[in-house]
Formats: sequence, structure tokens, C-alpha cells
Amino acid sequence: GAVVWVGGMFAIYVCLRPALGTLEPPQRVRLIRVTFQKFFLWVGLGILLAALRVEGWPRDRNSSLEAATALGAKVNVQSANASESRQIAQVENLIAEGVDALVIVPFNSKVLGSAIAKAHRNGIKVIAYDRLILGAPLDGYVSFDNVKVGKMQAQGMVHAVPKGRYYLLGGASTDNNSRMFREGQMNVLKPLVAKGDITIVGEQWTPEWDPSKAQSIIENALNANDNDIQAIVASNDGTAGGAIQALASQKLAGKVAVSGQDADLAGVRRVAAGTQTMTVYKPIKAIAEAAARMAVDLVQGKTPAFNAKLDNGKGEVNSLLITPTLVTRDNLDILVKDGFYTADQIAGK
Ligand code: GAL
Repeated sequence: GAVVWVGGMFAIYVCLRPALGTLEPPQRVRLIRVTFQKFFLWVGLGILLAALRVEGWPRDRNSSLEAATALGAKVNVQSANASESRQIAQVENLIAEGVDALVIVPFNSKVLGSAIAKAHRNGIKVIAYDRLILGAPLDGYVSFDNVKVGKMQAQGMVHAVPKGRYYLLGGASTDNNSRMFREGQMNVLKPLVAKGDITIVGEQWTPEWDPSKAQSIIENALNANDNDIQAIVASNDGTAGGAIQALASQKLAGKVAVSGQDADLAGVRRVAAGTQTMTVYKPIKAIAEAAARMAVDLVQGKTPAFNAKLDNGKGEVNSLLITPTLVTRDNLDILVKDGFYTADQIAGK
């Protein structure tokens, strides 16, 4: 082992010496890193998350780190903490560091185009994780079927409230998923609105998916409608939680149907308690493993498993979409069977 190491490093040094003198310092660092990685068959992987505030994301970080490490990658994980400029800087830094691939959860789907084009010019593979990146050349997209998630949310509401007044509580407008969820929701609701069974009394996007902003949006909506709202199509569990707090202060929690998504522990407990109608389970381990596999395959020149193509405004992006599961009070046990939570966690013990 040690002899190979020392010998290998010496050989690399001898080979690189003539080239190094002609390069700028950042390029030099990159050349040395990349050469070492190639020699030791590492895949240098940068994983960039948008923020860690919403409950599921630390789990995505841990699972993707674990999966990529298990595939032999050297991983650098960072969170942009809800700052689009910080995320752009993180992409730039990882380009300079000489990673082979970037897996990115965009904070703002629309602002990474030129940073990603630069990564591409440097031979780095780029994958969008969970949220599509728009207007950028991508090597892959791994997510859940987000239109289907939206359909499930609306179906859950229609099942509980076949006729009534609906409010559409959207996600962050900077997140392409918010529009995909809405598309799926409207696929279900449009014919019922046309029939006159359902009236949509209002709709709003929730900045940064922030539960406290969702709460004030719903407080205002209840106020404006004299509490005459029977269903709130919330696009995730965090915003559903805010909506349910607004309902609770009008003594309406459990009386108005509310959708959700993510199977956050708090959301799952509300589903068990009956204040939230449904959630959508998206197995984080599956998406994290798929992303790690896709990144390593792309770097090693293998064709990853894709099952869809999505237009991101720059072209058709090869995508892998995983099927989500609708969860109500009646099938909560699948979360336990899948190892997502223990029964005690759901029961709040
Ligand atoms: C979306 C994601 C959801 C939820 C939300 C809030 O992009 O698909 O599952 O986590 O962001 O961060």
C-alpha cells in the first residue's frame, strides 16, 4: 500500500512538473487534484443543498453523503442557507477545487445557468436533485414525479371535500417544483371547477416554503372569506403546518381538509391526529442513492438509468423520476415498514 502511494505520487509529480509551470495557481490546484483522483480512482463529488431548514433536507444530506461515499466518491457537501448568491459562489468554488460532478438542489431554479455552463466547460457533470434547474445544460435530473405529487394532493382534498371552496397554498415561487405540484393539482381540480363543484377562492405562493408565512396567508384568506373555506391545497407539510395553526385559532383545525407532502414527522403526526388530511411519502434514501449512482456513472462514462425527459428551457434533460406514495391515516404503517419512522416516533413517544 504505502509503496504504491509514494511511488504513485512521485510518478504523478514527475509527469505534472512540466505542465504546472505554465498554469495559473487555481488551474494548477485543479490539475493536481484531478490527476490524483484519476490515479486513485476517486470521484470528486460536490453536493450542494439549497437550505437545511425544512425537516427532510438534513436527511437528504446524510443519505446522499452515505450513498456517494459507499460508491467510493470523495464528497464535499454544502448548504446555501437559502441564499442564491452563496449557492453560485459554492458552484464556483467547487469548479476551482476540481470536482468531477456536482449534485445540486437549487435554491432558485433560474439563476444557476452561467455557473453551470462554466462547470460544463471544465468537464464537470451536473445533476439537478429534487428540483429542476432551468436554463442550464444538465447531465441528469433525479427527482420524484412531482406532477403526480400535485395530483395526489388534489385527489386527497377531493376525496375529503367533493364539493366546496378551496384555497391553493403554493410553495416557493423560486422552486420549479412548486409549479409542477400546481400543474398536477389543477389536472385534478380543473374539471371539477368547470362542473361547478369546486370554487377556488384564492391562491398564493409561500416565500421560501416558510410555515409562518403560510400561516399569515391562510389567516388573511380565512378573514377575507368569513372562514368559508373547506379545503386548503397546501403543497408541503411545512406550509400545511402553518395553515393548520391559522385554522386552529379559528377553532377549525380538523374541520377543514388540508393536504401536504414530505411525510415530515410533524405532518405525519397531524395526519394521525386528523388535523391534516394526507401527506406524500417520498423515500429520501431512494433519491439520494439514485443521485449518487447517477453522478458516479456519468463520471465513469457509463449511461445512468433514466426513465423520463423534462424540458428545462435549455433542452431535454435526461431524468429519473421515482414514484411517490399517498399517505393518509389508513396507511401510515407503510412509513414504519419502510424504516422511515418508528411507530413510537409517530405516536410521539
Ligand atoms: C420542494 C421539495 C419538497 C419540499 C420543499 C421544501 O422542492 O420537493 O419535498 O421539501 O421543497 O423544501
